[in-house]
Amino acid sequence: MSRLLLLCGSQRAGSLNARLLEELAAHVPTGHAIDRFAPGEIRLPLYDAVCEQDPAIRHHLAALHRRFAMADAFMLASPEYNGLMTPFLKNLIDWISRLPWLDPTAPNVFLDKPVLLCSATPGWSGGALGLVPLRSLLAYVGAVPFGEAITLPHAGQAWDAGGKLDPRLADMGWSACVARFCAFAVRADTRNAA
Ligand SMILES: Cc1cc2nc3c(=O)[nH]c(=O)nc-3n(C[C@H](O)[C@H](O)[C@H](O)COP(=O)(O)O)c2cc1C
Repeated sequence: MSRLLLLCGSQRAGSLNARLLEELAAHVPTGHAIDRFAPGEIRLPLYDAVCEQDPAIRHHLAALHRRFAMADAFMLASPEYNGLMTPFLKNLIDWISRLPWLDPTAPNVFLDKPVLLCSATPGWSGGALGLVPLRSLLAYVGAVPFGEAITLPHAGQAWDAGGKLDPRLADMGWSACVARFCAFAVRADTRNAA
């Protein structure tokens, strides 16, 4: 059993990546707990060193950091912006990684934690290019990006007006990939606990 935190790199209402995450969450084997942020729950300004002294921001950051700390692993879906992760996601990771520098009792919540990288975009790449720098960033902060990744090209046509996934996409190997990732997360959790 592991606790998975779903992270979306887009805050846009109707985000394709938020939809992809929910499709993937449905493939998480029973016995794993899932946490997710509600839309608008993450309200961090663009990082700067002056902002981090603001008590209200520090309070919000500490609450977000606790959610990350409770997770054993992350499932992350981000669109690609000009070949990179979104500024929203980079900013979030920067802020969360910053708290241990401000409060020495706060752990590095990324350390040794598995991350499944996913992306959906309307274009041909499905966000695969953006996952390369994202993988590097996550490794930099101490996380363990899973070898496999899930990308969904032409994602604008993947769901009908009622929000139902095109049945031709229903078996893209997502279920097996998510299951392998969850097994990997459990093994990592066991090692981390030892
Ligand atoms: C500034 C910007 C840059 C973008 N760059 C790319 C890109 O490099 N590759 C791509 O496939 N889509 C790109 N897109 C399109 C996004 O993938 C598309 O808007 C996507 O739907 C956003 O994800 P979301 O639906 O989860 O919000 C870009 C969009 C913006 C706003």
